[in-house]
Amino acid sequence: MRELSMHILDIVQNSIVAGASVIEIVINENLIDDTLTIAIDDNGRGMSEDEVSKVISPFFTSRTTRKVGLGIPMFKASAEACDGAFKITSEKGKGTYIEAVFKHSHIDRVPIGNMAETMIVLVSSDINIDFIYKHIRNDKEYILSTKEIKEVLGEVPINSMEVLEWIKNNIIEGIKALSK
Ligand SMILES: Nc1ncnc2c1ncn2[C@@H]1O[C@H](COP(=O)(O)OP(=O)(O)OP(=O)(O)O)[C@@H](O)[C@H]1O
Ligand SMILES: [Mg+2]
Repeated sequence: MRELSMHILDIVQNSIVAGASVIEIVINENLIDDTLTIAIDDNGRGMSEDEVSKVISPFFTSRTTRKVGLGIPMFKASAEACDGAFKITSEKGKGTYIEAVFKHSHIDRVPIGNMAETMIVLVSSDINIDFIYKHIRNDKEYILSTKEIKEVLGEVPINSMEVLEWIKNNIIEGIKALSK
């Protein structure tokens, strides 16, 4: 993948397919430890221990249209190629937590990519899911919570053009402020 946001999109799509109603995405850039951690936490249907171990290998998928599931193995490979680590914690009926750590300065570490676009795609793909996007950079933090936005919006749908545009700009400005 050319951008980490593409991995995020892929992993969050799994959470959506798993019926999650709350999905949290955390990007944590710690320039002191020189790590970039991506964590995706959902309350979807979860996996058994056996399923988790199979999922790590590229020959397991519950899809029927194609034989190999590659989303998770590719994310794991990307992290491990950057002196990183990867872990999945999942419980049947509870949810799934996936964490990938990259060495921030690693030469092969691809850019984060466009998180504003990624979140817009996700938010508009299912307006009933609550998305939390947290981006931490050293001591600074940005948070977007669609649940909070929905409360302010009242009857206005979160996937209306004006709202999506507002969310997009809020993310762009929010991420920019982390580097100041
Ligand atoms: N968040 C999740 N909750 C429950 N099950 C999951 C979750 N993520 C992955 N899985 C299970 O792990 C399998 C493998 O996921 P993976 O993303 O690697 O491949 P895929 O989604 O099947 O195919 P691809 O991503 O290549 O289109 C899924 O088919 C699903 O059964
Ligand atoms: Mg997938």
